Amino acid sequence: MIYPIVVYGHPTLKKKAQEIDKDYPKLDELIESMFETMYDAVGVGLAAPQINKPIRLMVIDATAYAEDEPKAEGFKKVFINPEIIEETGEEWEFNEACLSVPGLAEYVFRKPNIKIRYQDENFVEHEEEHDGMLARIIQHEYDHLEGVLFVDRVSGLKKMLLKSKLKDISTGKTKAAYKTTLPPVKRKR
Ligand code: NI
Repeated sequence: MIYPIVVYGHPTLKKKAQEIDKDYPKLDELIESMFETMYDAVGVGLAAPQINKPIRLMVIDATAYAEDEPKAEGFKKVFINPEIIEETGEEWEFNEACLSVPGLAEYVFRKPNIKIRYQDENFVEHEEEHDGMLARIIQHEYDHLEGVLFVDRVSGLKKMLLKSKLKDISTGKTKAAYKTTLPPVKRKR
């Protein structure tokens, strides 16, 4: 099932997501649907809050980056209850985009090396180290679980310049090529 993707301004994107356990209803179906939704929108990662589910679950398929990053080939993973336990190295800049912020890309600084602990789709515990583009994709999706968007990491002045573009996204003036859910309209008093 392809879910609509919630866009900038939606309250679920600002929430810190909650941990889940094996009893979470229809988890296999949900994971399958998340991959389906991500591929439909031509993304490399998707976090559950982006389909309006504030839980600590994210999926990644980095294969699209395989040309520049050999390690990305076949990097298809499910992360449940992830925890980034270490981020090291000198920050580097990359032009990021996000399915919840359609039509916008901005340079974001992130550290290149991470250590992450998570459970896979079978709730088997893993601890791994990743670097470069794979680390960045994980960091971006992980941010979603913390209620943070890449535009929140853009410097103050640049963010001011983005304001009208972000408004166009949250009001639906900027349309995505996939189904989206707009934030509820704030009533004027
Ligand atoms: Ni994103």
